[in-house]
Amino acid sequence: MEIFLDSALIEEIRAVKKLGLLDGITTNPTLLSKTGKPWKEAAKEILKEVPDKPVSLEVVATDFEGMVKEARELAKMGDNVVIKIPCTDEGIKAVKALSSEGIRTNVTLVFSSLQAMLAAKAGAAYVSPFIGRVDDIAYDGMLVVEEIVQMFNIYGFETRIIAASIRHVDHVRRCAQLGVDIATIPYKVIMQMFKHPLTDVGLKRFLEDAKKAGISIL
Ligand code: G3P
Repeated sequence: MEIFLDSALIEEIRAVKKLGLLDGITTNPTLLSKTGKPWKEAAKEILKEVPDKPVSLEVVATDFEGMVKEARELAKMGDNVVIKIPCTDEGIKAVKALSSEGIRTNVTLVFSSLQAMLAAKAGAAYVSPFIGRVDDIAYDGMLVVEEIVQMFNIYGFETRIIAASIRHVDHVRRCAQLGVDIATIPYKVIMQMFKHPLTDVGLKRFLEDAKKAGISIL
């Protein structure tokens, strides 16, 4: 499973890059607003830091013409830019047009397997089901992801699934169990993935025993 960072904060991007685990970046207007910088400056900074992995930037127009125009502009910012398009009828039309121009899209705000199917049929490179926001309305967001994985396997869609709106490590674990292509994960959750209390306890014991036994490697 590929690990994308769901963030526009350059410090977080650099930190995950240093871990050697960064496969791509996803942003949205909310995440860009958190940088406190003008959006274009923040986006350029991200693309400079990550020039060779997919970076999703989202349109803000909601009509077909507007989305296509914005997507073309965003695509000029880098070969690795992927255009996030909301899953509406106008959005899906835009995905179809953009994919015929060779512009890669990531259909976002997906909350059902039918929406994911429409995105795949329109030629989206990626589809982003939101897990946490479905959980927020008292349903199980993972069930939506599971349906999408099954459906894409049945039909052999090439569109890749990016599990988004991930709130905790168990979302990541369940995505990996399902064979989801990509999880886009907030920085805090990526760091939590390293943690296990038994690792801490075990390491403490090994270090104490190494000291007792006089083990010193170098
Ligand atoms: O990238 C979009 C998505 O991950 C948003 O997550 O936590 O705002 O629902 P959240």
